[in-house]
Parts: sequence; structure tokens; C-alpha cells
Amino acid sequence: MPSKPNPVSTWREYFASMLAMPLHPLYAQIDPYLPKHGKALELGAGVGHGVLHLLKKGLDVTAVDAEPEAARILSERAPQATIIESRFKDKDLPSATYDVVVAGFSLFFLTQQELSEFWPRLLASMKSGAIFAGEFLGLNDDWAKEGYLGHPEPEIRRMLSSFEILHWQEDERGGKTSQGTTKHWHVYHVVARLR
Ligand SMILES: C[S@@+](CC[C@H](N)C(=O)[O-])C[C@H]1O[C@@H](n2cnc3c(N)ncnc32)[C@H](O)[C@@H]1O
Repeated sequence: MPSKPNPVSTWREYFASMLAMPLHPLYAQIDPYLPKHGKALELGAGVGHGVLHLLKKGLDVTAVDAEPEAARILSERAPQATIIESRFKDKDLPSATYDVVVAGFSLFFLTQQELSEFWPRLLASMKSGAIFAGEFLGLNDDWAKEGYLGHPEPEIRRMLSSFEILHWQEDERGGKTSQGTTKHWHVYHVVARLR
């Protein structure tokens, strides 16, 4: 089964629009907690702005993305990274390996069942003290209403119960997508440390 479609357009058009976008501001929240070296996992790396940033910070980066077009762009832009074209649910994860995991706007493409199975495997792949950062969709997000995976805040906090929360921002507002379409956003931006 292919991964869920991009909510606005084709993935190819989405990636083309993302190439013109800057690094997401969440990385400014992640940076103070990054180790000087170590292993990072970018889940749903897209066109790789985050991958390039983490490489520049001295990390050894593995980028996972289900879309062949993303894997192609990543190989061109970030040949120093290990690029894996795979759905999250099909990816074997080594145990206690990663110092940093970033899932920027990517986990809500999973079904609840996939996430419930994937999340404990992801936590087991992180070292004690490792940093997790990423986004979860709130229930009022237009995409949550269209079938992408939204969560109530207590459920996100429950998933993060074995973490110390370092940054938490709930962002709910009318706005636009990277492709210029109007959208109601309801997103939780999180940086957390595995205890
Ligand atoms: C909205 S984009 C975010 C890209 C990037 N992290 C960012 O914040 O700009 C979501 C990315 O996750 C990937 N993706 C979606 N579902 C996936 C799945 N089930 N397994 C692996 N990658 C997936 C998409 O191909 C896409 O590159």
C-alpha cells in the first residue's frame, strides 16, 4: 500500500514548493539541545532542509522517506546522509542508537494503528537522553478533519510521558500551506528529551 497522498497536491509538486522554503523555525528550538556528534534520524525528510542542517551541526544523519522523489532529491542535496526510501512502518530500527530524532510534519501520515506500532519501536531506537522533535496534528486542523492523524493534547502528552518536554508550542490559526492554499492549522510543535 502506498503512503497517504499529500493533502494539497502531488508529492512532486509539494517537494518543488518546499525547495524554495527556508529551514523550519523548530530547528532553532532543537539546536540548543543538539550533541556535538552522534546519530540523527530524520523521519519524513522531504527535500532535506533538516537533514542538511543536522549534517552541518556535525551529526551522522539517516533520512527516511517513503517517496522516491524525496529520496532522489535527498541523494542529490545530501549525499553525505544515509538515505532510506521506506515507509516508517517497514523500517527496521536499531536499538538504543539515535541521539536525535526529528519527525517534522510526518507522523500524521500514519494511521493510528501504524503509529501505535511504530512509536514504541522508535523510542527503543533512541538512546537514553536522546532528543525527539517534531509535529503532531491537533484535532482542529483541517487535515485532521480530512482523515490525517490528529490527536487531543492529552494523548500527545501521554505518548511523550517518558520524555522531559523542552519546548511545547500549540499553534492554531488560519493560514496557508507551502503551496499557497488556505488552511486552518492546529499543530503541536515539540522538542523533548528521553529520560
Ligand atoms: C509534510 S512532509 C514534511 C517534510 C519535512 N519533514 C518538512 O518538515 O519539511 C511529510 C514527508 O513525510 C513523508 N512520508 C509521508 N508518509 C510517510 C510514511 N508513511 N513513511 C515514510 N515517509 C512518509 C513524505 O513523503 C514527505 O516527505
